[in-house]
Amino acid sequence: MLNTAKSIAETLKKHKKVKIVSHIDADGITAGSIASMCLKREGIEHSVDFVKQLDENVIEKLRNENPELVWFTDLGSGMIDKLEGLNAVITDHHKIQDMQKANNHLNPHLFGKNGAVDISGAGLTYLVAKNMNSKNIDLSALAIIGAVGDMQDSEYGKLIGTNRKILQDGEKSGVIDCNIDIRFFGRETKPVFKLLQYANDPIIPGLTGREENCIKFLQDLDINMKDEERWRKWINLNKDEKRKIVSKIVFTLLSKGFGHKNAKRVLGEVYILTKEKSGTELHDAKEFATLLNSCGRYNKTEIGYNVCLGNRDEYLQRARTLLQGHRRTLVDALQFVNNLGITKRKYIQYFHAKDNINEKIVGIVAGMLIPYADKMPLIAFANSEDGVKVSARTDRSLVEKGLDLSVVMNLSAKKVGGIGGGHNVAAGATIPKNTEEEFLEETERIVKEQIG
Ligand code: C5P
Ligand code: C5P
Ligand code: ZN
Repeated sequence: MLNTAKSIAETLKKHKKVKIVSHIDADGITAGSIASMCLKREGIEHSVDFVKQLDENVIEKLRNENPELVWFTDLGSGMIDKLEGLNAVITDHHKIQDMQKANNHLNPHLFGKNGAVDISGAGLTYLVAKNMNSKNIDLSALAIIGAVGDMQDSEYGKLIGTNRKILQDGEKSGVIDCNIDIRFFGRETKPVFKLLQYANDPIIPGLTGREENCIKFLQDLDINMKDEERWRKWINLNKDEKRKIVSKIVFTLLSKGFGHKNAKRVLGEVYILTKEKSGTELHDAKEFATLLNSCGRYNKTEIGYNVCLGNRDEYLQRARTLLQGHRRTLVDALQFVNNLGITKRKYIQYFHAKDNINEKIVGIVAGMLIPYADKMPLIAFANSEDGVKVSARTDRSLVEKGLDLSVVMNLSAKKVGGIGGGHNVAAGATIPKNTEEEFLEETERIVKEQIG
């Protein structure tokens, strides 16, 4: 991959003005920020657009603007056959539908690597930045936030593959530290019972979403929740208290049949951003990534982007407010699906949230439900202004049997006149209204073909 990164870096350096186009989630925002910072350091003029997906409308608009060079980060791979007429370079980890047409294109799939776990959009953009100037290795911190934002550490409880090399750059340049600890959101900033209440990777049966149970859980273990008047956070607990809590969570997961794989993910690597202030959302990669998702997924990408660039005060305060809203929205959405129920077919299961869940977070919700749901691909629908948004998620074990949701979403969407793509374990699509049933039939047919 390094030769391609180098050649893209050379191409970028030859231009005076670059248009960056990136995705609205944490990985996309960090990718766009890395691109922007490395161009700034080279004195190359640029602007950044964040979009929820790269579709024909976005491409048409770009064609009309006719920029000297476009740099697509964390998107582009699914649309290479539609980019004719644009001078473009791409750093993306989504599945490429037509490998033949890939040039000026840095993507792990071109090198036999899995884009869902090996490296993120931010990581690929970082590789280009590093090749532009070796001083850019401090940007590895943003690349790690992007990878964690895309949950690339979730499968094994740690980052693997190319992400590990980026992690080493981060350690070497003194911007990242890596420890073994509980992997839940909020270690540094939330009271311990809140950390349990909002646990979602994996969900803890009986605790996630249930404040009273979380308080009782800690009381039963004789753990003081307060130091005098202050709520104790995870980082304020002693080793023995932490050990007691982790053992009990693992026991709960195993006794409720959630398997070793989920139990193992409770404890794992956590990534500390050493240059950030301890006890803030920015000190822990997972919290930082969640903060960014809270901006991008609610049309406030600018705020997250500014936080990444180091413009803090006002932007950080606004991002924190969005974060609170995001976490509440997720809990409500989970509750909504709980009440609605998931419909099972022979090879797939689905729910349709209609207008009750925002299309930009329905994928996160589907992902959270996977450890709970039957071992079949889960298809989630939500209404969108462009038609119907689809998000698909699956348990890794089905991927090992041959399931590839990026192919399933791409082909099923095409069949009904939509677009789709993504990764083997997580993919999505947008389809025309009222084509859901036909879409599900095609999805089921392809899933059966892949794993039946
Ligand atoms: O667009 P993008 O690549 O950023 O989105 C990746 C999506 O895939 C995220 O929603 C992430 O949660 C999901 N994912 C997952 N399990 C993995 C890798 C990614 O659920 N192992
Ligand atoms: O939107 P959602 O979180 O479900 O997306 C899952 C993955 O599928 C993401 O990586 C996203 O970028 C990708 N996707 C895509 N094309 C679409 C919709 C989603 O490649 N039309
Ligand atoms: Zn990504």
